This record gives sequence, structure tokens and C-alpha cells, in this order.
Amino acid sequence: MEKGLAWFCKPGRIFMLELCSIRSVTHDDLPMLFSWRNHPDVRRFMFTQHEISPHEHLNWYAKSCQDPSRRLLIVQEQQIPFGFVQFDHLSTGAVCDWGFYTAPQAPKGSGKKLGYVALNHAFSSLQLHKVCGQAIVSNKASQGLHQSLGFQQEGLLRDQHHVDGIYQSVICYGLLAHEWHAQSTDKENTHAPH
Ligand SMILES: CC(C)(COP(=O)(O)OP(=O)(O)OC[C@H]1O[C@@H](n2cnc3c(N)ncnc32)[C@H](O)[C@@H]1OP(=O)(O)O)[C@@H](O)C(=O)NCCC(=O)NCCS
Repeated sequence: MEKGLAWFCKPGRIFMLELCSIRSVTHDDLPMLFSWRNHPDVRRFMFTQHEISPHEHLNWYAKSCQDPSRRLLIVQEQQIPFGFVQFDHLSTGAVCDWGFYTAPQAPKGSGKKLGYVALNHAFSSLQLHKVCGQAIVSNKASQGLHQSLGFQQEGLLRDQHHVDGIYQSVICYGLLAHEWHAQSTDKENTHAPH
């Protein structure tokens, strides 16, 4: 299990992250992930929005476990899980895609904690070169989170997502390792950890 960085901040807001950690998903997490993933506030922003069946969920986990290029992770605070992160197309120096959600009952600010811990893991432990994310245009929280974490908008896929008879565009984001490390160093130089 990896501990999160001690803190992160932006003007006026400082979060202590020393109690956060990230670890692999285990079989015991499956019922919790099943309820999070199927919650309407989560699945309405996923690319597949139907209610996942228990069978589909177990298949997804079994398939993921056999895929060395995929990592399923739980982010937790004081040992209590509050978010899920997935990295795909993994290898050292790789350009990876990420996906994530926080527990439906998690307070605002949890997304930022999740992002910070997961990206620190991605660019330090996993030694990734780049993390790419995608957000449906109606998903303002995900857009705000990507921007807040330092992602650059790299593209717009017009009418890419079709659900309930409506087409929505998808925003593509990217964050490079050196950009992430520069942000972290910047913060360390201006705000000493408590
Ligand atoms: C996306 C998600 C992780 C964000 O979590 P969160 O706890 O709401 O996010 P935070 O409160 O940490 O906010 C992160 C940033 O986004 C901004 N933000 C959050 N919600 C916002 C909204 N509705 N509109 C605009 N900005 C928003 C915050 O102001 C913050 O930016 P700041 O640091 O500059 O102030 C969470 O809403 C979620 O799990 N949603 C469902 C699943 C999902 O959408 N996953 C992503 C798929 S791409």
C-alpha cells in the first residue's frame, strides 16, 4: 500500500493527504464497487450507463485481473475507501488512460484527493509518461477536476457519446509526467508541509 503525499493546496484551500493511501482492488471490494458503479450519480457519467449485472461485474473483475496492462485501485483515507481509479494500457514510460469515480456519499473535495493520490502513484510508482482522461461535456465536475489537477485540454470529440437519443461531445485531457512533477515541486517550494 502506498501512502499519499502529505498535502496539497491551492490558494485558500489546503488539504492534508497524509491519511490517504492507494492499493489494489481485491475480491472483497467487489460488493462495494458494484454499489458505487451502479449508483445513478456515477453511472450517468460513464460511457456505458446501463445498470451493471452481478455477472457482468464479476466478469469485468476476472478479465481485469488477467490483464497486465490494467490496474484497478482503491483510494482510501484512514483505511476507509472513498474512490476507485483504473489505469489502462500500462507499461513503464507508457501513455495511459485513466477512469475514476468517488463513492456516491463522498463529500466534495474527495475527487481532488483521489486525483492527487492516483496521479502521484501514476507518475512515481508506475513511472508513466502521460495520463489521458475523457469527460462527457455535461460532466462539469470531471472537467473541473481535470483542470484543477493540471490536465491540458487536447481535443474535443464532437457528438461522440450517444445515450437516450442524445449525442454529446467528449473532451480529451492529457497530463505529462514533467508537468505533474513541476506542479508538485512548485507547491513544495511555496508551501512547506505542516
Ligand atoms: C468527478 C468526481 C470524481 C469529482 O469529485 P468531486 O469530489 O465532486 O470533485 P472536487 O470537489 O474535488 O472538485 C474538483 C474540482 O472540480 C471543480 N468542480 C467540482 N464539481 C464541479 C461542478 N459541478 N462544476 C464545475 N466545477 C466543479 C471543483 O471546484 C474543483 O476545482 P478547484 O480545485 O479549482 O476548486 C465525482 O463527481 C464523481 O465520481 N462523479 C461520478 C463519476 C465520474 O464522473 N467520473 C469521471 C468520469 S470522466
